[in-house]
Amino acid sequence: MHAVREWLRDASSIAVLTGAGVSAESGVPTFRGSNGLWKQYRAEDLATPGAFARDPKLVWEWYDWRRSLIAQAKPNPGHYALAKAEARARKFTLITQNVDGLHELAGSRKVLRLHGSIWMLRCLDCQSEREDRRIPLPEIPPRCECGGTLRPGVVWFGEALPAKIWQDAEIAARHSDLFLLIGTSAIVYPAAGLASIAKSSGARVVEINIAESGLSDTIDEFLQGPSGELLPQLIA
Ligand code: OAD
Repeated sequence: MHAVREWLRDASSIAVLTGAGVSAESGVPTFRGSNGLWKQYRAEDLATPGAFARDPKLVWEWYDWRRSLIAQAKPNPGHYALAKAEARARKFTLITQNVDGLHELAGSRKVLRLHGSIWMLRCLDCQSEREDRRIPLPEIPPRCECGGTLRPGVVWFGEALPAKIWQDAEIAARHSDLFLLIGTSAIVYPAAGLASIAKSSGARVVEINIAESGLSDTIDEFLQGPSGELLPQLIA
């Protein structure tokens, strides 16, 4: 912990990758823990373009339910600590796989959302995007003014990440001298590959997680515990 505090203080460029674990203490379910979403639901039925084409109503009901859970969630001390770290750092890029928007609510300014936002809706026909925070959505599946069907503005399995956001994330990882991997099982690529990009470019890689992840043996320091407790201690 002591060494990591010094690395944080001395780093000239920090990149952070967060996953569902940072929002766990806010009450947002993770995907792969014992109570994880993918233990109760099949990703193939709910989070793929094929699933949406087959049954948009079912997919939307599931997203509407997740939106209602997330709407009740507040940022936790881990989110706030990361916003504070950004305000203090020389260069800081927060890359997240989360779609909940809690980093932004906590005050993080520059957030690269690799997997989109659960609050954004995108039209399958005209491709326009809009934010819609209504809960529940008045119509399922929701419709665009053009008549097309709106889909959740998230990245599903089998889809490419938004190109510019991925490019910026890759650059931030490559140019970082300290890379933090927080609350992610680090098994979904390409996001998980950012830690190796940072490592092979010479960055120190620190992981914060309640349990070891797929990448734990490649990192410089593993801090075991909830990010809502460890991050405020690190960024006091
Ligand atoms: P996962 O659910 O796979 O992993 C959550 C990680 O957080 C696990 O490694 C837990 O040990 C850890 N964790 C849980 N509580 C924690 C806490 N309080 N503090 C610190 N760590 C904690 O979530 P992600 O890695 O984010 O993608 O999943 C990656 C992607 O897979 C998601 O973005 C989503 C999912 O399918 C799509 O939907 C495309």
